[in-house]
Amino acid sequence: MNKAKRYIRIEQQIKDLIEDIDNPLSKMATINAVLHHKMPGFFWTGFYLLDNGELMVGPYQGTLACIRLKKDTGVCWAGINRGRTVIVPDVEKFKGHIACSSLPRSEIVVPVFDVTNKVTCVLDVDSRELNNFDETDRMYLEKIVHLIHH
Ligand code: SME
Repeated sequence: MNKAKRYIRIEQQIKDLIEDIDNPLSKMATINAVLHHKMPGFFWTGFYLLDNGELMVGPYQGTLACIRLKKDTGVCWAGINRGRTVIVPDVEKFKGHIACSSLPRSEIVVPVFDVTNKVTCVLDVDSRELNNFDETDRMYLEKIVHLIHH
């Protein structure tokens, strides 16, 4: 199955699972589990939440992650500060990249906005393959995380 077809199925599955759910954290945990187990190549999948100006780990699946990310450093903070998705084809070439594990080679960070258009958290996915993420991932992951606050 190609990537777009897989995302279309996953997006519908997530919508069905969370249609009666209001709690954003419960939605994040559910989205996270579905993506991590259904998308090939998702080695680490999780959310980092803005909390009093800090970026703290939220629901995730994969190996043990950094709990707090040093402010304005790395890919997650870049996603927060730029207010848009950041695709990193090769983490070694991203200045300031924070490595919680030595295995990830590429990464995508997708900011999540609430109903007032304020960023609340990011979805972060790491892959062990170089160049694993593209415009298809960006488009579908943005649609899926939109469900968290809407
Ligand atoms: N690489 C991220 C840190 C989080 S881990 O990938 C789980 C970053 O540079 O922000």
